[in-house]
Amino acid sequence: MSPLWGGRFAGQTDPLMARFNASLPFDWRLWDADITGSVAWAAAIRRAGLLTEDERDQIIRGLEAVRDEIAADPHAAFVDAADEDIHSFVERRLTERIGAVAGKLHTGRSRNDQVATDVRLWLRERTIGRGQTRTNAEKNENPRSSASVRVPFLSTAETTVSLDSALTDLIRAAADRAEAEIAVLMPGYTHLQPAQPVRWSHWLLSHAWAWQRDRGRLADLARRADMLPLGSGALAGCPFVIDRAALAADLGFAAVSPNSLDAVSDRDFVAEFLFWAALLGVHLSRWAEDLILWSSREFGFVTLADAYSTGSSLMPQKKNPDSLELLRGKAGRLHGDLVGLLTTLKGLPSAYNKDLQEDKEPLFDAADTLALTLPVAQGVLETLTIHPNRMQAALGDELLATDLADALVRAGVPFRQSHHLVGRAVQRAEALGCALRALPLAELQAISPHFDAEMTAVWDCERSVEQRAAIGGTARLAVRAQIAALRDLLR
Ligand code: ARG
Repeated sequence: MSPLWGGRFAGQTDPLMARFNASLPFDWRLWDADITGSVAWAAAIRRAGLLTEDERDQIIRGLEAVRDEIAADPHAAFVDAADEDIHSFVERRLTERIGAVAGKLHTGRSRNDQVATDVRLWLRERTIGRGQTRTNAEKNENPRSSASVRVPFLSTAETTVSLDSALTDLIRAAADRAEAEIAVLMPGYTHLQPAQPVRWSHWLLSHAWAWQRDRGRLADLARRADMLPLGSGALAGCPFVIDRAALAADLGFAAVSPNSLDAVSDRDFVAEFLFWAALLGVHLSRWAEDLILWSSREFGFVTLADAYSTGSSLMPQKKNPDSLELLRGKAGRLHGDLVGLLTTLKGLPSAYNKDLQEDKEPLFDAADTLALTLPVAQGVLETLTIHPNRMQAALGDELLATDLADALVRAGVPFRQSHHLVGRAVQRAEALGCALRALPLAELQAISPHFDAEMTAVWDCERSVEQRAAIGGTARLAVRAQIAALRDLLR
């Protein structure tokens, strides 16, 4: 395959170097974005008087034919291709279709501004689902039911659901369960020690809120990525009279990059995406860890569906939470993607350097990882069984010790002192080998005359959670308010 830059070369590229240099094995995935960008570029250079109308139409028709050909069977299109990158591939196929006029398409353009544009288009579609292509309408299937594009060089499937909608579905699943199971109480933990009773729904929503912040961050970074680099040339700008505002409008970009040197070297939007992915990985892994613990026999609060568990090859009794363990493990990989890119970017001299080609694999890897991870998390969440009786049994009296201290506060004892008095009651109950609530009133009053018989009302977990009715608390009304607020944000 002859490269796009052969003119000044007398010698051949070493095959090893060709393989090392080639990005087609991974950037083939930019084909749709690349063609979209080229169609808009053909229109832009026509407007600048660099093409006749007929040439523009030939080029655009040719590009659309290449698009159709790839869309029909991406595997067949790419499996034997030996081009340097997706840009060379598309140009070659275009030339094979329409002949020499294809050679006019690259006028005023460099692969540097081209690839920066492609990646932004790709990211926009993958993150918030705003694409440019006709196939968009078809791209709303459930990633669990189908894989629309077979990846030629990998065994994984490229999913077509936006990450935002996958995340939205996960949050909605958490809100649905929180609503349906609002009556269920469980121990809340700090330091992994039983602390105070909370609603199971409150725990579910605690993770949903983190995921909702992730949605906000995604929208935010998508806004910053929404800027057109095309028309920056290789580094110094475009020498032809290109209407970049019109080009941006054609491609659906909100803004035009203000500096060509910056435009071709800026990968901040990729780094932001990878940070987003890494932090979402952290959130998912913390969520998974809670459920892994709670699915252990020792806790027994939840049971994973068979559909999301696997067995042991040796121990017949085992049912392992592999789905959750993988969810937890993926965080490491997502962090690697982020750190890899930041390290690539650090210290690069101005404008484009080939190092920047290393932006793609971490980007695709993180997007693919989450495209699979999010629906799995949703599936686990929707299908697990909870055991409210086990949760109830774990709600020992000691989880209500704070409530007893609060009762003393209501009787006028300063909190610092009431905390200490209840601590002594706990100690006394331990010494007598009885539960806190079984400690006779006389024992309590020996510790402090402020204890009275009415305070036995605190031995009620339902009452305890219902007292936490301030905004953000675990009382039924406060939890309902969270669900309503979250649902508003999901609309
Ligand atoms: N495959 C290249 C990349 O992903 C495209 C840009 C090549 N530019 C260049 N000046 N060689 O970065």
